[in-house]
Amino acid sequence: CFSCNASVSCPFYNLLLLLLFLLQEKQVTGYLLFSLATAVIGSLQFGYNTGVINAPEEKLKSFFNQTWVERYGKSISPNICTVVWSIAVAIFSVGGMVGSFSVGVMANRFGRKCSAVLQRRSMFLVNSLAVIGGLLMGFSTICSSYEMVIAGRLVIGLFCGLFTGLTPMYVGEVSPTPLRGAFGTLHQLGVVVGILIAQIFGLEALLGSQRLWPLLLALTVAPAVLQCILLPFCPESPRFLLINLKQEEQARKALVRLRGSEDVSKDLQEMKEESAKMAVEKKVTILELFRSASYRQPLLIAVMLQLSQQLSGINAVFYYSTGIFSAAGVKQPIYATIGAGVVNTVFTVVSLFLVEKAGRRTLHLLGLGGMAVSALVMTVSLLLSNIAAMSYVAITAIMVFVAMFELGPGPIPWFIVAELFSQGPRPAAMAVAGCCNWTANFLVGISFPKLEELCGPWVFIIFTIFLIIFFIFTYIKVPETKGKTFDEIARSFSSAPPPASSSIEEAPAAAGVTLPAPPIKEKV
Ligand code: GLC
Repeated sequence: CFSCNASVSCPFYNLLLLLLFLLQEKQVTGYLLFSLATAVIGSLQFGYNTGVINAPEEKLKSFFNQTWVERYGKSISPNICTVVWSIAVAIFSVGGMVGSFSVGVMANRFGRKCSAVLQRRSMFLVNSLAVIGGLLMGFSTICSSYEMVIAGRLVIGLFCGLFTGLTPMYVGEVSPTPLRGAFGTLHQLGVVVGILIAQIFGLEALLGSQRLWPLLLALTVAPAVLQCILLPFCPESPRFLLINLKQEEQARKALVRLRGSEDVSKDLQEMKEESAKMAVEKKVTILELFRSASYRQPLLIAVMLQLSQQLSGINAVFYYSTGIFSAAGVKQPIYATIGAGVVNTVFTVVSLFLVEKAGRRTLHLLGLGGMAVSALVMTVSLLLSNIAAMSYVAITAIMVFVAMFELGPGPIPWFIVAELFSQGPRPAAMAVAGCCNWTANFLVGISFPKLEELCGPWVFIIFTIFLIIFFIFTYIKVPETKGKTFDEIARSFSSAPPPASSSIEEAPAAAGVTLPAPPIKEKV
């Protein structure tokens, strides 16, 4: 300890010892943390590009006008300006839909070897999209072309869509089973930190100024370059090496480095069991994923969880919070927005520590329930906005809404998909789930301003209704996956536990089977 030189009576020293003990017990090494940190740079990019467009809205609009004047000799009409602006914002989600779906298309195209495209090496290639997108936006003012902003947002969306599939998959595959949930949360932690950085950098005094906004948008190139430098030092996913490439020795070596121990037989054994199962498992295309009865139940759960994340209305807050705060009578909405970003980050960390203790299902239910209540309080505060004190109620309601989101509905849907499916159907399932997420994200983003116009202060009631529906669905259908191996989870979707060599395709249809089925082997 820096303050006492390792005295046994020092609480910091003891805490440090406890932490080291825990890290050793749970197979956490510096190398594993390094690999995870490198992977979640992709998540950071997703968050940054989600949050970055909010602050410089007025500057971008004036740039559109300036370009219009240069080209046509007259000002842009407010209607056209709004259309160009909405396209610039929403095209990001369109790119995201295509990107997240491509993860599955690649999987179909390259079959069993798909992971070669999907894993570490592909992260490297995908980063070139961030560089292209960032440069397009960064040079848009020099080239007097607002089309370059739109094209850049599309390419960046594509890039982020690919990473929302790649990062959780990589993180899930390199993490030790007892900590898969906690590390799964790291993807969301990367996203929220990215949003917060974008909100802070977007301040007028930093990069959100008339002159520097192109740099704000282009800054996404920096983490892409950083990740390209770090990736060669990360291991290929051992699960992919063993199951997809049949390179057991390589997989063992990667595991030894990741776990910091020569004895990796337990991990290898678990992967071999999954591999044996996959050997007889037919190649799973997206179409087959929909057709096969054995995937119906986990697919329904995966899609509903993604929808619960987006239709909760979270991005109505992250895209339009400044307007919502203004409507509620808040004087400095930009600072309230940054406050929401801070709460968002803090509660993602809280979730990281809770998820392996409380479990995914409990936290998701708690989050959805809490969000429903705060959406209701928000409605009341907007209805009574003529009372001065209501602006504080609105701020509190939004903060609680965001905090509850990050307890469960924020992080859990992203990593639970990788848990619900075995190695074979996993990429296809991630693609479908990711695409549903991005589509719902797009729908909320594009429709919220219109809905707000139509419903006025009642607008959050729409989200309350969705939240209640998803709460009931989660309560009835979603199983607890905490501490179970991938194989145990896959088996819990079959009505009879199949032998290791049996095909998932042939396993009795699981549709309609209410979980939990088998006794859960508690590993945490
Ligand atoms: C999740 C959502 C994303 C949202 C973010 C907010 O990652 O997928 O759309 O902006 O949470 O923290």
